[in-house]
Amino acid sequence: MSITPVNAPFPMTRLRRLRRTAALRGLAAENTLSVNDLIWPIFVMEGQNDSYAIPSMPGVMRLTVDRAVLAAKEAHDLGIPAICIFPYTDDASRTEDCALAWSPDNLSNRATAAIKAAVPDIAIMTDVALDPYNANGHDGFVRDGTIVNDETVEALVKMTLAQAAAGADIIGPSDMMDGRIGAMRRALEADGFQDVAILSYSAKYASAFYGPFRDALGASGALVGDKKTYQMNPANSDEALRLVARDLSEGADMVMVKPGLPYLDICRRVKDQFGAPTYAYQVSGEYAMIMGAGANGWINEEQVMMESLMAFKRAGCDGILTYFAPRVAKLLGA
Ligand code: PBG
Repeated sequence: MSITPVNAPFPMTRLRRLRRTAALRGLAAENTLSVNDLIWPIFVMEGQNDSYAIPSMPGVMRLTVDRAVLAAKEAHDLGIPAICIFPYTDDASRTEDCALAWSPDNLSNRATAAIKAAVPDIAIMTDVALDPYNANGHDGFVRDGTIVNDETVEALVKMTLAQAAAGADIIGPSDMMDGRIGAMRRALEADGFQDVAILSYSAKYASAFYGPFRDALGASGALVGDKKTYQMNPANSDEALRLVARDLSEGADMVMVKPGLPYLDICRRVKDQFGAPTYAYQVSGEYAMIMGAGANGWINEEQVMMESLMAFKRAGCDGILTYFAPRVAKLLGA
């Protein structure tokens, strides 16, 4: 006598067969997470042989340049292909004219040069935006309460060239000004940096998930108002495709969607439509949520970490910027 439900087709579609053992699940896996998928964002600060734990990002430290070099060495030994440098600035570094942004020996450029010299084989990504150097915490110049797009782009170009000269392999414009990719690409070509790549933060949303990062940079107190006139409206998705199309046509080599997990639909659309190298940024707030719930025993932190990163791969991402990078690399290598 059959126990097959009366109306089911025969033979029954038993998809569970390939989930029965770890070996079969491995064979049937559609996506894999590898250490090659990781870009590790690090925060650098002034000083010597020192670090500072960022309260809203448990496990993440601001590092002095010498310590950042050691961190880069460790990352390289773990097989992590790239790190991304963000500078922590104090009030004195933040001015109306943002002049420190394109200074050849600002903190970020010193860190880049030091890491390049000590760990030449790790790719170094840098951040292009005025916020660490701006008195009002915005990514662009502000006049009469309005972001001045084109003047900002000129400053971003100077910043880009200084970062390329310091040894950056990948320039990461996170500012969301219009026209910056074309201007940066033209300047890089003209100044002999034609091999420097641009990973554009093309679809960067005006998100509350950046909160802990702004603490990490010291920019929380500085920011006047919000970034909604230049970062994307979380309600939009078609607009992300237009931004990606524009940035690729202006000379971006790689594109990014940011934040990550709440925007996986955008990652998938971007990958399907353009087939370009597509990255997602698992941002500070996403990190903090996983760590916070983990610390409370509400979730299994390590499993959620790995599952969240696999989700990016499933959504079509070629790589992920994640604060979990060294921890994941150790797990994958173990
Ligand atoms: C600023 C910048 C931000 C992040 C990267 N670059 C914050 C912002 O736009 O205010 C966020 C990263 C994170 O939250 O982890 N140019």
